[in-house]
Amino acid sequence: MIGGGLITAAARRGIAQMAHLPPMPPAPRQLDLERLAPFVDPLPIPAVAKPLGKRLNPSRRSQVPFYKIPIQEFFSKIHRDVPPTRFWGYGNSVPGLTIEARSGEEILIEWLNRLPAKHFLPIDHNLMGAETGVPESRIVVHVHGGRVPPDSDGWPEACYAPGKSATYHYPNRQEAALLWYHDHAMGINRLNVCAGMAGLYVIRDSFEDGLNLPKGDYEIPLVLMDRMIRADGQIYYPVTQLPEAPWVPEYFGNAVLINGKLLPYLDVQPRKYRLRLLNASNGRFYFLSLDNGAPFQQIGTDQGLLSAPVAVSQLAIAPGERADVVVDFAAYRGQRVLLKNLASTLMEIRVAQERLADPSALPQTLRPVPKIAEAEAIRTRKLSLQELDNLVGEPMTHLLDGKRWHEPVSEKPVLGTTEIWEFLNLTDDAHPIHLHLVRFQILDRRNIDVSAYTYENKLRYTADAVPADPNEAGWKDTVRVSPGASTRIIVKFEGYTGRYVWHCHILEHEDNEMMRPYEIIHAAKR
Ligand code: C2O
Ligand code: CU
Ligand code: CU
Repeated sequence: MIGGGLITAAARRGIAQMAHLPPMPPAPRQLDLERLAPFVDPLPIPAVAKPLGKRLNPSRRSQVPFYKIPIQEFFSKIHRDVPPTRFWGYGNSVPGLTIEARSGEEILIEWLNRLPAKHFLPIDHNLMGAETGVPESRIVVHVHGGRVPPDSDGWPEACYAPGKSATYHYPNRQEAALLWYHDHAMGINRLNVCAGMAGLYVIRDSFEDGLNLPKGDYEIPLVLMDRMIRADGQIYYPVTQLPEAPWVPEYFGNAVLINGKLLPYLDVQPRKYRLRLLNASNGRFYFLSLDNGAPFQQIGTDQGLLSAPVAVSQLAIAPGERADVVVDFAAYRGQRVLLKNLASTLMEIRVAQERLADPSALPQTLRPVPKIAEAEAIRTRKLSLQELDNLVGEPMTHLLDGKRWHEPVSEKPVLGTTEIWEFLNLTDDAHPIHLHLVRFQILDRRNIDVSAYTYENKLRYTADAVPADPNEAGWKDTVRVSPGASTRIIVKFEGYTGRYVWHCHILEHEDNEMMRPYEIIHAAKR
C-alpha cells in the first residue's frame, strides 16, 4: 500500500485482525440507566455570555463588543445520583456559554486555551495532525454555520496549545439562525467535542422579531449529545486492540444528554413553545417524537426559517444539523409528555394545569426562501464518499472524492458564483456533509448503481430523483447524504475568498481524512 503514517496504522489495524490478535479491549462497566431514577433534574438552560467591554474591530473603524471565553476543565453533574463528570468545555458548562448575536452587529471573541497539558481521551497519533510531539490539548474554535472570514473560521491546523489564545472576529452578516460553536482541532476534534467542547451561537434579526414567535422563557434550546458514561460517571471513549492505533470508526453513547443532563424534566405552561434543537453528537442520528403523538411544527432548519411551518411527527436530525420547532402544549394541560428518540425516552415535559394567556404566534408563512434555479449553476462537481476497508471489512478510513486532507485543494469555486455539488455516496451509511461559510439548498436524492460507479466510473441512476423533504426545503449548511445514492445541493459561494473546509460531521470520520479544504477564489484568479 501507499506510504504515510495513516496508511501504515490502518494497514497495521487490518493485519492485526488477520493475525487474530486479541479482540477489542472490553469497555469498562457502563452506567446502568435502568437503575437510574428518571426525571429528577430540571433541564438546565446554558447561561448567555456577557461581553467584557468593547474593542477595536479588525478594520479599526469601530468599537465592537468583546468576549473572553476560556476553554477549561470542570466537573458537572449529569444526574442527581451520578458523581460529577469531568468535562472540557467553554466556561463552566456543557453546552458552553450561549452567544447571543444580532444580524449585522459584529463581535470579537477571545478563545483562551486553559486546558491541562495531557488529554484525558485516547489520542491516535497516526491521524493527520495528531502526530506525537504536537501539544495534546490543542484547540481551535469554529462557529458552525457562521459567515466568517477565513482567519476567524477555525482552520483545523490553526489549533493552539494551553496558555495560548486566539481572538476571532464574527461579523454576523447573515439571517437569524441557530448556529453553534465547537472544537475543530486537527486529528482530535472527535475527542475535544466528546470532552464537552460545544455551545450555542444564536443570531437574531428584526424580520424574525416581527413574527412574534414564542420567546424568552418560552424559547428553549435542546442540545443533544450522547456519551458513553462509565459506572463512575466519567466519559468513556473506546479504543481498538492496538494501543498505538486506537481510532474507532464510530462513537455511540449509552446516555443521551440534553443540555448536559441525563433524563431531565422540563416544566412548561399549556401554551406554545419554540424548541431549538441541535444534534451535537459525534455520530448519532436522532429520530425524535412526542409520545402523545403531538406533531412538531418545524419552522426552521440549519440556516434559519422555512418559508412555512411543516408538521413532522418524527423529526430526523443528523450530527451538526439544527431544527427549529414550535410545539403547542395548550391541549395537554396537566399531562406529562415524553420526548422520545425512537423507542427510548430522553426527557419528560410536565405541562402545568392553569391556563395562561399565549400572546405568541405560529404564522402560516414565515420567511421567503427563494429557490435557487439549477440554471444558475455554472458547474456541477461530482464528489464521491467512499470507504477504505481493512481486510476484514472494518472501515479504516473514509475519503471525499478519493482524496486525503493533505492533497492539493481541488474545489475552488469563484466568489459570487453558484455551483451544484453532487455527492455520490458509495458507502452503506448516511454521512452528514457540511460546508463551512456558505448556506445551500438541497435539490434531490437519487439511488445509483454503486458498483458501476466504483468499478467502471459510470454514473447510472437506478431510481427517480426524490426532492428534499419539506422540512429540509430551507437554507441548510449540513445535508444527510444517503447511502448508495446521489445527493445534490446547490450553493452560492458568498461572503469571503480564502480557504475553508468541507467534511463529514461524523467526527470520527472527519478526524480520519473525511475532510477536505476548499478555496473560494476571485474571478480573476480562475
Ligand atoms: Cu460543525 Cu467543520 O463543523
Ligand atoms: Cu461548520
Ligand atoms: Cu462520515
